[in-house]
This record gives sequence, C-alpha cells and structure tokens, in this order.
Amino acid sequence: MMHQKHREKLFSLFDDGQNGAVFIQGSEILYRNETDYEYPFRQESNFWYLTGVNEPDCALILDLKTEEYHLFVPKRDAQYAVWHGYVKSQEAWKEQYKPDHIHYTNEILTVMNKIKPEKVYCLNDLDAELIEDLDRGFEADIETLLDALTYCRVIKTDEELDYMRKSAAINNLAHTEVMKAIKPGMYEYELKALFTKIQYENGLQQDAYNGIFAGGKNSAILHYVENTSQIKDGDLFLLDAGHEYEGYASDITRTYPVNGKFTDLQAGVYDAVLNALNSSIDQIKMGVKMEDLHLHAARTIMEGLKDAGVVKGSVDDMMENDIFALFFPHGLGHFLGLDTHDVGGYPKGVDRIDRPGIKFLRVRRDLQPGMVVTIEPGAYFVPALLVPALEDDTQKQFLNAEKLTNMFEFGGIRIEDNVVVTEDGCENLTDVPKERSEIEKLIRG
Ligand code: GLY
Ligand code: MN
Ligand code: MN
Repeated sequence: MMHQKHREKLFSLFDDGQNGAVFIQGSEILYRNETDYEYPFRQESNFWYLTGVNEPDCALILDLKTEEYHLFVPKRDAQYAVWHGYVKSQEAWKEQYKPDHIHYTNEILTVMNKIKPEKVYCLNDLDAELIEDLDRGFEADIETLLDALTYCRVIKTDEELDYMRKSAAINNLAHTEVMKAIKPGMYEYELKALFTKIQYENGLQQDAYNGIFAGGKNSAILHYVENTSQIKDGDLFLLDAGHEYEGYASDITRTYPVNGKFTDLQAGVYDAVLNALNSSIDQIKMGVKMEDLHLHAARTIMEGLKDAGVVKGSVDDMMENDIFALFFPHGLGHFLGLDTHDVGGYPKGVDRIDRPGIKFLRVRRDLQPGMVVTIEPGAYFVPALLVPALEDDTQKQFLNAEKLTNMFEFGGIRIEDNVVVTEDGCENLTDVPKERSEIEKLIRG
C-alpha cells in the first residue's frame, strides 16, 4: 500500500529507536458563514500522504520507536447518521485504511500516555497546543516534521507517478474536448461547464485550483477566475485548469484562437512561447537548475517577440535590462503533486532571486529523478506594465510602441505541460495538442 511506504520513508528520516511521536490532525469540514453550506471536503495534503484518508475529523500518531501507526477517527452518533449517512464502524475504518491501531479521537491522551514520547513532532501551532494542553509533560516540536515530510514528498514514488499519469490522462482529455468544442460567441463559463463535465464523467470531482477560462484580454490576467465574459471571433482563449485524481493534481494550460485560425501576430507570439516550452523541456534532466531554465525560457520568448516585431534591439541587452519581466512576469514552473504548487521548491537556506520576473519562480533546486514539475512559459500584454514602460527611457528603446499600443486587448498566451524528471531527460505527462497546425485542425473540425 502506497501510504505505508510513505510512512516508512518518513520513519527512515528519524533516528532509530528514538522515543518520539508524530502527531497530525486532519482537516475538518468548513462551512460558509455559519450556514449549512459545506465546502467540498479536501484532506490536508501531509495527512493524505501518510494515510490515504480523505475524510474529515481524523488524527494520527506515529510512534517513532515502534513504527506503529495509530489512526484516530471521529465517534459519530445516530444524529450524524440521520443527516450525513451511515456511521462507519471501527472495523470498517481499519479494513479500509489498515492502521496498526484504530481509536476514537477522544483517546489521543490515553495513547500518548502509553507511548510517553520525549518529543512530539507536529506541523503547526494548533496541533502543538493541543498536545501540550493534553498534559504539560509533553514537549511539542514544530520545526522538524514539515521539512521531513517535504523531503519525502518532493521525490515521487512509482505508485505516486502512476496516480499522476492517471490524473494527467483524464485532464488531457478534458482539455482536448474543450478545444474541439470552442466557438465564437460562447461564454467562458460554458467552456468551464464542459471541462468540468468531462472531469466528473471520469470521477474527478475536485478541482486542483481555481480554473482560469479566459477569453480575449482576460487571458492576460494571471489569476482570472470570474469566467463570465463572452468570447469574440478573433479572440484568443486561455484555459488553465486541472482536477485531482486521488489527491494528485494536474495543471495544464493551452491557449488558442476561438475561431480556429491564428492571426499572424497571434502566431508570432504563440511560437515564441511554444519554442520556450519545447526547448526548456528538451533541456530537462537530472542536475538542471530551474532558474537556468527560467532564464533560458525568458530569452527564447524575447527572441520570438523580436521576430514578431513586438520588441527590437539586442536580446542580450533586453535580458540585461529585465525587459523579459514586462512580458513574462511569473515563474517558469513549480513542483506538482498532492498540491498544485507542491512543497519543496525552496530548501532551507535558498532564497528567492531578487530580480524582476524570476523572483516569482517557485522552485530553485537542481532537478532530480522523480520530481514532477510544470513548465509554463507565457507572454502577456498587460497595459498596467506596458504603459509606464513605454514612457521609461531605458525600457522604451526595446519596445515597438506602434505595435504594442494596439495590443492592449491582445491578452496573453501561456502553454503549460507537466513533466516527470528522469536521469537523462523527462517524461511529459501532458498530451494536449500544442502545435499551431494541430490546434487549428482540431478547432475547425
Ligand atoms: N494555475 C496555477 C499555475 O499554473 O501555477
Ligand atoms: Mn496552471
Ligand atoms: Mn502551474
């Protein structure tokens, strides 16, 4: 069972025979503003990683000395059964999740008193306070566990990679079906509805993040979530969305012309981004640094924008003057796993690079086999950045003002794939058309 392997990985990081325990409380159900509207339940990712339990109100203790796993489950009454369904027996919990011991959550103190740990490792103050409030004899440590779990989660096991492949396959299908269905005049939410329908038909009810379904100028808004506008003939449409399979996220972006034909200018910008994506993926292998890939992608985008006549001058000078950050203002990618922006991008002691654009990069690590990363270059035309740049003495030398002032409604293009790093390359999990000719063919049927 994969979660047992995860626990073993965590145990292996603590000294053998150490008289300690790990204590984590899982998530609770959240309600909207004191109403009976329940937000969809989603387990805290570290708890899910160690247990596979995606149900509310549970807790766990791992005994570091004996390596035993105690799962604590809520004691439900008949009223619960009336409102929320049947009450699961302890045997059923045990059968389903295979802990070494099963208890109700009111037995945490009893179990702790039997283990008598010298130290209790927790993820946060809330859990630490609960433990210390149980009995002042317990000493909680919130410095160690998060780093240990992050270390475990960064490199995916073979089973996790299989889950991510399954997640990718369904998400690939949903993206491709939307591409086939799009037509001028549709509303962004209609495309969201179709995307969601395909996910649901395949059993994926949980979105991994707030999906972006953005037509025209909305496609330049990095976190556009309204999804309410009508998409016009001639517009680009950017779809950045993904659902989880058994907790494992997919995070794909495609951008395409709603009428199935790229204009010359759209094609020029698209090729700049696609070249950045493909050439970055070609470079991925063990040992490559994400910040080097980011700068490579930024340069490739500037070369493409120069070919498209949007910028002018020397690309070396553009890089030196951070012109790329005007068009590509976010990071090239991030880890992907149980969270969309998965843990571990910045190990202790590694800081963000204080430079425009690249400061938002979410991973600064040498890539290693088993890591899963997104690669998501983009080029956006954001008036809030371009208007002041067109008036700045240094920046304006590189900008084709005539062209750019007509591009304030152009929007943006992002293309995002999900890849597994291997020793000598990578495995691309994303299989949604991205060549211009393929996209045009698919949209035009
Ligand atoms: N949609 C979130 C991201 O691409 O990072
Ligand atoms: Mn994305
Ligand atoms: Mn992403």
